[in-house]
This record gives sequence, C-alpha cells and structure tokens, in this order.
Amino acid sequence: MLVFALMHAHSIGHRSGAWGCFKAACYYFSVAKKRIHPAQAFSGVLMVPGDKSISHRYAIVASLAEGRSEIANFSAAADCRSTLDCLRGLGVQIEEKGNGVIIDGKGLTGWKAPRKTLDAGNSGTTMRLLAGALAGQEFASSLTGDRSLRSRPMRRVIEPLRQMGARISAREDEFAPLEIGCGKLRGIEFTQKIASAQVKSALLLAGLFAEGETIVREPVRTRDHTELILREMGAVIEPRDGAISIQGRPKLLARPLIVPGDLSAAAFFLCAALIVPDTEMTIQGVGLNPTRTAILDFLASMGALVSVVALGIREGELVGDIQIKHSPVKGGKISGAMTARLIDELPVLAALAPYTEEGIEIRDAQELRIKESDRIATVAENLRRMGAHVEEFPDGLRVAGRSAGRLRGATIDPRDDHRIAMAFSIAALGAEGETVIRDADCVKISFPEFFELLEGLAKLGKED
Ligand code: S3P
Repeated sequence: MLVFALMHAHSIGHRSGAWGCFKAACYYFSVAKKRIHPAQAFSGVLMVPGDKSISHRYAIVASLAEGRSEIANFSAAADCRSTLDCLRGLGVQIEEKGNGVIIDGKGLTGWKAPRKTLDAGNSGTTMRLLAGALAGQEFASSLTGDRSLRSRPMRRVIEPLRQMGARISAREDEFAPLEIGCGKLRGIEFTQKIASAQVKSALLLAGLFAEGETIVREPVRTRDHTELILREMGAVIEPRDGAISIQGRPKLLARPLIVPGDLSAAAFFLCAALIVPDTEMTIQGVGLNPTRTAILDFLASMGALVSVVALGIREGELVGDIQIKHSPVKGGKISGAMTARLIDELPVLAALAPYTEEGIEIRDAQELRIKESDRIATVAENLRRMGAHVEEFPDGLRVAGRSAGRLRGATIDPRDDHRIAMAFSIAALGAEGETVIRDADCVKISFPEFFELLEGLAKLGKED
C-alpha cells in the first residue's frame, strides 16, 4: 500500500511539473537549432513524461469503453496528440485538463463515421493501431500521415486484417493513405513474421470487433501494454500456448488511469549519466514493464551501476524509480530478441558507444531502417560527423569505444527523427566543443519537455 501511495504522490507531483514543461516546450517548437555544450557533473531527481506507447493505448481503449475515463499523466507528445485528434474525428469527446485527458467512451459501437480523412501525423502507432480498430467498424474511413509515415510499410497490418475479413486498400498495396471499408470480422490465428507490438496491437483491437477468438503469435515477446489495458477494462484476453488470445465483442468499462513515466524517454538520461563523470540521478515513477526493461539489463551487463526501487503495480503495469550512478562501462553486443526488446533505445545506445571501453555492436536491427528515418544510416552518418569510428551493416552497426578518441562537437542532421535529435544531444554532453542539433524541434514528436529537462540538469551541475 505504501508503494501505491508513493506512486500516486509522484504522479500528482509530475502533473503540475509536466504542465509547466508543456508550456515551455512550445518555445522549443519554434527553435530550429539547439546548441549543446559539454556538461559538468550533476546529481538530482528527475521525472520523465507519461509513456507514449501506453498513452496511445489508454486513449484508444478508453474511447471504446462505456463511461468516462480520466487519464492522468498523459503524454504531451505530438504522436499522442495525433491519436487524440483521430479519435475526435471519430466523434469521441475528449477534454484536456492539466496534463491529463478525460475521454467520454461510448462503448464498442460508439465511434461515428469521420467527415474527413484521419491524420496520424508522424505516428506509426496511431496509424497501425487505429487501422485495426477501424477495420471492424460499420462505416468506411481513410487514414493518412505525414511524408515519413506515408513511406513506412503497412502491409504488415493490412494482410492479417484482410484475413480477418477487413476491406483495406493502400497505395501500392503497402503505403498510406489507407482506405478502410466496413467489414464483418472473424477471429483468426495469426503468426507474425516480424516482431512488432504495433501489428500485434492492431490485430487485438480488430479482435474486439471479430466473431469468435483471435490468436496472435509473435516471434519475440514485444511490449504488452495493449493486452494489459484491455484486460484491465474487461476484455477476455489470455496467454494461449505461447500466443495471446482475445474473445470478440466484450464489454469494456471506463476507469481512472495513470500513465507511468516513459522508460524510453528515461533512457536518454540514463545514458547521459554514463557519459558525464561523477553524475548520479534518480528517475521517479517510470514504467518498468518487463517487455521494456531490456535497456536496464543491457546497461547493467556493461557494468553500469543502475538499480530499481519502489516497485508497484498500476493498471497491470509495473512502476518504480531508477537510480543510476556514473561508472565506466565496458560495451557489448545487442542482437536477436534483445534487439527487438530495446528497439527504441538503440539510437541512444549507439550514441553512448564511443564512451564505452570496447564499443557497442548492434545486429538484427533491420527494422531500424524503416522507423521515422533510416536510423542505421542516420546514426552512422552523424556519429561519423562527430569523429566516431562506425562500421555499418544491413542489419546494424558497430561503433568503436573510447580508444578511437574523444568525440568532437559537430552539426547534427536528425532528418526529422526525434530519437536521433535526442540521442545526439546526449552524445554531445561528453564531446569536445559545441554540437549543433539542426531542426531540434522534432523532439516534440515524443518528448517535448526534453531540452527543458536537459537544461535543468545542466543547471543542477553548475549550482553544485
Ligand atoms: C511501438 C512499437 C514499436 C516501437 C514504437 C512504438 C508501440 O514499433 O518502435 O516506437 O507503441 O507499439 P514496432 O511495432 O514497429 O516494432
């Protein structure tokens, strides 16, 4: 109980803090370039914003539940805003209050035909998850996105949804805009070839509208936030022979929800602590779902002094505080299932690599080439600009460690990819001289508060 009380107190503390950050973040939206200088040691307590993956899911599932759900600590990421805007386009009433949202769920059949094309912006999660839920509606809809999203693969969701009876067409049968007709869905058993939580979630959401049971088998266990929230809200969803099964047409019930802090956002600061000597930090109220914590395992395997305290469970999600203390790290190799489990943290781990003893090798990461940018190419190009030694492979890269020399400040082109802009802001903390991050406002896609938090830590350092 004490743990629950603690977690609640954290989230309330965060609520006002995150609102302040959101307002400050608007300032950064208009800042095209960000200059980063080497950092001095800092120590302090930090809170990261609400988890992006979980925010999308809570909003979508709450909109399909009966009754009002108040969701606290909802991510201010532009991606999650895209999800809210699409839901509004489907007739869902959403009120924004502080850094929370209140969603008026109308039940499984409550969405209305949209008057115009739904725009998922830059967000793959919005497009793929909504494609699943829209496939089961009794009205037609269209889904589009920005230039980057319109070039990302969608057949991975289209094909299994068609097997369920959905009527979907796409440009070249692969790319958005997606035209989704009304269809009667039936449950299927589907084995995914690619490890993708977005595809799994699309099928589980479609499974809500299907007749019978939908079973999804994945090659590697990916983040299970969709499963957890669907179960919390009343769906019959359970593991079945190493797969996950959901029964169609349940009744979902609204409830208050609190989004845990985003571990993928915390990862930037964890790596910062390993770059800047004499640094010590506690990050509070972070989601520690075991499908997301491979980053902590990998840092610990390299010798990082990282630990987790104050564990609790909220809405089926593990939440706790992470403590990290600067320590020299060895380096290592990431491959196989590990790669899938820390897919979003790979850019910042590559940026940490030149500060490790032996460097870091990343393999089996071909999925990185079809994210918001080709993250293998973008990371390699920008690391080379900073003087790192990088070998690029079709499925990853190898970045040399400290013996290859200290990084130098450089101009970084993140190619409109939020995680690249943040990863190189962290790499810059230990580099010689100034680093300029071009188009730095792209961080608003997942973490609008990023630069404000980073600057706050830098100030802490100066005051100490
Ligand atoms: C996400 C799943 C991952 C991840 C993305 C968020 C999710 O994508 O890279 O940032 O919320 O389900 P894939 O499903 O394409 O692996």
